Amino acid sequence: MDFFELINKRRSVRKFKDTKVPESVMRKCLKASVLAANSSNLQPWEFYWVRDPKKKETVVKACFSQNAAKGAKELVIAVSKIDTWKRNRNLIIEEHKKKNRFIPLVDKYYNKLIPFAYYHDFLGISGLIKRFIFLFVNIYGYFKPVIRGPIYKHELFETVSKTTALACQNFMMALVAEGFDSCPMEGFDEKRIKKMLKLNWQSHVVMIFGIGEAASNGVYSERFRVDDSLVIKEI
Ligand SMILES: Cc1cc2nc3c(=O)[nH]c(=O)nc-3n(C[C@H](O)[C@H](O)[C@H](O)COP(=O)(O)O)c2cc1C
Repeated sequence: MDFFELINKRRSVRKFKDTKVPESVMRKCLKASVLAANSSNLQPWEFYWVRDPKKKETVVKACFSQNAAKGAKELVIAVSKIDTWKRNRNLIIEEHKKKNRFIPLVDKYYNKLIPFAYYHDFLGISGLIKRFIFLFVNIYGYFKPVIRGPIYKHELFETVSKTTALACQNFMMALVAEGFDSCPMEGFDEKRIKKMLKLNWQSHVVMIFGIGEAASNGVYSERFRVDDSLVIKEI
């Protein structure tokens, strides 16, 4: 399929046929999702393919039994994390060392800048300290472009969730390329999902996907987008 055809073909599908989604398709699409561009290559995501029938039931209920979840043949939960940076950073450094690419710039980036950006604590005290440091950075910023964040925990969550959303898009596009469909959902009770997945406060449930093959009435209406002139600007 031509790439632009694929983009046009992807729709949010809320009713699915009985067709099973082959395991190989699920694995291929999940693998495609983690190839997404991501901030500092820290890959701060987790994708939970819900296979256990009891857990599926819990997810459907947590999604308020909306059609996109109830009739889905498969369910996948995309989670962003602010606590995996250290593990992944170490793996990145290891890889650079193995390939003899651990140059001083990489050392400085992953051992100084990233810990400063990603370090956080439950109470948000590190955020207040960073806010104080950034007061001086901002003065410097009057004269030169400077990095101005992330400072607070919620800004860090923005960074990791932004990145995870890109992986989500890859996932949806990959499903279309394989002849299947999905509906991304943010209509769910996050607390219940986190409880089921035993996720801590350093995790955020970004989206849940209902997946299957579109039924003939699976797309509810013709696609509508506001006029390009409202959202695409040439400056
Ligand atoms: C982050 C996100 C959350 C969404 N949540 C829901 C949802 O809870 N239930 C639902 O039926 N559709 C949900 N959608 C689907 C949107 O309604 C849909 O993408 C939008 O109407 C555009 O239609 P299209 O995807 O067919 O182009 C969500 C989409 C995104 C990206």
